Amino acid sequence: MSSYTALITGSSRGFGKSLAFAVSSKYPNSTIYLLSRPSSHHTETFNNLKKAHTDGTVHKVDIDFNDAADTDNPNNNYINIFKDCIEGIPVPTSSSNKIVLYNNHGTLGHLTASPPLSSVPIDLNLNITSCISLSLLFSSRFPLSSIVNVSSLAALKPFPTWSLYCASKSARDMFHHCLSLSHPTLKTLSYAPGAMDTDMQSHIRLNESDVEMKEAFVKMKEEGKLVDPDVSARKCVELVEVGKEGHVDYWD
Ligand SMILES: NC(=O)c1ccc[n+]([C@@H]2O[C@H](COP(=O)([O-])OP(=O)(O)OC[C@H]3O[C@@H](n4cnc5c(N)ncnc54)[C@H](OP(=O)(O)O)[C@@H]3O)[C@@H](O)[C@H]2O)c1
Repeated sequence: MSSYTALITGSSRGFGKSLAFAVSSKYPNSTIYLLSRPSSHHTETFNNLKKAHTDGTVHKVDIDFNDAADTDNPNNNYINIFKDCIEGIPVPTSSSNKIVLYNNHGTLGHLTASPPLSSVPIDLNLNITSCISLSLLFSSRFPLSSIVNVSSLAALKPFPTWSLYCASKSARDMFHHCLSLSHPTLKTLSYAPGAMDTDMQSHIRLNESDVEMKEAFVKMKEEGKLVDPDVSARKCVELVEVGKEGHVDYWD
């Protein structure tokens, strides 16, 4: 019998939450791991998914990707928590037993032309280091698997006040392209989900320092042009199913 296991980071809300429900409806018998910081959103998503996913299994993993990745410290750091999580999952031996890491968590950080120096290591740790570390650990335990790097148009196109975010998304894309070259049975998809109606977009409308950009994002919301994250998530899950690789945009 075939099986499907999904690990979804940043699953408490927004696109990650939509991915969890999209996996559940396409694969009712699947095993889903929700990896997020402890919060009321995380608990609520877990409880709601458990109610909906009655033929499968849902696990809640409390993890903060801004924890120092100190591998010598056995207490509460994301590397150890993630290792424990994946070591509890049997390694699939055939392609009919699918295992997918949806590496989704991320932050926009400061939306300003000159972000404070103190934010550089914090944002890059969350957006790049933690994402890459999870993919490395996952691909070495599960060489026959798929990884979705949740990407963005910002991986390809520069925006004046999003320098750290654009640099992060670009680095993540390149890392995953390289990883798939060196792992022939690993599929990596860098999926740009479109400008979606999530908290990340409210953050732009509230905090964007570039007046023209702020107006453009406010207009997109007012004109109903933001993508529904549930629709984009279903597309992403389908792209994984058909084995798509490389950078794919929602609008492609
Ligand atoms: N929204 C868009 O228009 C858009 C467009 C292109 C790409 N994307 C990408 O899509 C992905 C999801 O974005 P979204 O719009 O859903 O964002 P969001 O609404 O801000 O949600 C971000 C998720 O990441 C989690 N997260 C943030 N910091 C974390 C940490 N330190 N440890 C663990 N989890 C953490 C959040 O958990 P908490 O609840 O604990 O904060 C939340 O679940 C991101 O990679 C983003 O770059 C979004």
